[in-house]
Amino acid sequence: MKFICVTLLIISGITDSRSEQYKVVGPTDPVFAAAGEDVILPCSVKPNISVVDMRVEWFRPDLKDSQVHLYDDHVDKYTDQIQSYRGRTELNNQELQRGNASLKLSSVRVSDEGRYKCFIQSKYQYDDTTVNVSVEGE
Ligand SMILES: *[C@@H]1O[C@H](CO)[C@@H](O)[C@H](O)[C@H]1NC(C)=O
Ligand SMILES: *[C@@H]1O[C@H](CO)[C@@H](O)[C@H](O)[C@H]1NC(C)=O
Ligand SMILES: *[C@@H]1O[C@H](CO)[C@@H](O)[C@H](O)[C@H]1NC(C)=O
Repeated sequence: MKFICVTLLIISGITDSRSEQYKVVGPTDPVFAAAGEDVILPCSVKPNISVVDMRVEWFRPDLKDSQVHLYDDHVDKYTDQIQSYRGRTELNNQELQRGNASLKLSSVRVSDEGRYKCFIQSKYQYDDTTVNVSVEGE
């Protein structure tokens, strides 16, 4: 009996950490944005579990100071954000609960063009996806 209980505990422990597994997915094609307008950079986890308790970081891997938006410990943190993104980025908290970590970027600038990474880290794992942004016109 004792053995069975311990076995069950171990099995349920395994399924628990399994259910935490997720993949971060983004668009397969580049995102086109018009200068001056707002754009959504899509990013979500599959399965669509809540990412509210996770770290969500949007950054530009090709830049030296790379941080575009950081959500960590349940709040947005702006201390290391690239200056030119100040006040232009937004994560929707309700969407985070549905596994949607898409970034809203306002008043798009030509300099926003480039490669973005959406990085999502839980206590157990992390994954990321790349979103290419192409900006048209002035
Ligand atoms: C983004 O662009 C790079 C080249 O700059 C390309 O290698 C990569 O496949 C693109 N990824 C997506 C998701 O568009
Ligand atoms: C994800 O959230 C953004 C807003 O942050 C919204 O525009 C978009 O429609 C959502 N995507 C899905 C699949 O619900
Ligand atoms: C998650 O995805 C499932 C299946 O696609 C859907 O039925 C469900 O409504 C989604 N849950 C949330 C919170 O968006």
